[in-house]
Amino acid sequence: MSQKDTSDRFNQDQTVIRVVNLVKSFGGRRVLDGVNLEVRRGETMVIMGGSGCGKSTLLRHMIGSLFPDEGYVELFGQNLNELDDKSLDSLRLRFGILFQSGALYNSMTVGENVALPLREHTNLDEDTIQIMVKIKLEQVGLRYAENLMPSEISGGMKKRAGLARAIALDPEILFYDEPSAGLDPVTSAEIDQLIMDLSRKLGVTSVVVTHEMDSAFRIADRMAMLDAGKMLKIGPRSEFEALRDGPETGDEQLDLIRQFIRGDSDGPITRRRSSAGFMEDVLGVAED
Ligand SMILES: Nc1ncnc2c1ncn2[C@@H]1O[C@H](COP(=O)(O)OP(=O)(O)OP(=O)(O)O)[C@@H](O)[C@H]1O
Ligand SMILES: [Mg+2]
Repeated sequence: MSQKDTSDRFNQDQTVIRVVNLVKSFGGRRVLDGVNLEVRRGETMVIMGGSGCGKSTLLRHMIGSLFPDEGYVELFGQNLNELDDKSLDSLRLRFGILFQSGALYNSMTVGENVALPLREHTNLDEDTIQIMVKIKLEQVGLRYAENLMPSEISGGMKKRAGLARAIALDPEILFYDEPSAGLDPVTSAEIDQLIMDLSRKLGVTSVVVTHEMDSAFRIADRMAMLDAGKMLKIGPRSEFEALRDGPETGDEQLDLIRQFIRGDSDGPITRRRSSAGFMEDVLGVAED
């Protein structure tokens, strides 16, 4: 666990992220409709939900790149709505983000990409930076790729490189948006293993947005199911496993989650689609 914030009021088992009644509309469409979520220190929280249900939007609120119409996000006890740019920037040094594409700079080598946050946010000398880069690349199994350009590496390697950059500053929280999307099953399992290793070895708190169920069940301590801008259920992985492996419950919401995680072609989701209005049908969100 990081030593950086032993002075604040958060210790082990305590909440590091608190999302409270988050509401966000785009062009009159309510994409987040009163979302609540707490993430505890050291855990891996997986947020699942169908395409367009608001997962990335929720994540962007958690990292302070979007701000809500109503409600707030607290990171390490600090309300992001109330922070000035300077405080937000220094808070950003305490978390890392792995974007869907890896988001590498194509004009720089893999090593230079990883060095970037160290150059921008620390006063380390060049020799130390070079050593740090090697350590970070080693941690993601990419030591041999230091001098390659992003165009010369595969999608899975780009994810690893993005992850090496995300952990460059030893973050306390790692946010992942669809870390295994577009990867083959084995590479995807390797990325999952890496997420778990980082969480265990570095004690990082992880928030992972995904709709890949194999991956979700592999890595999650707790899971949260988002649907049309609302949290349907938050609970330990075992509760979702029981739902997945058990019979239909007769409860509309639970059966909706069950259908989603089983990938069944028949259930509340498909019934809703065939009876929903145009907006909900096409866009997956309720009209405001
Ligand atoms: N900046 C924006 N401006 C307008 N609409 C937006 C914006 N960002 C997201 N949306 C809309 O909000 C809805 C939710 O988008 P979001 O990207 O959060 O979904 P998601 O759950 O991450 O989907 P996916 O699984 O496909 O990544 C979508 O209908 C999307 O078009
Ligand atoms: Mg998304």
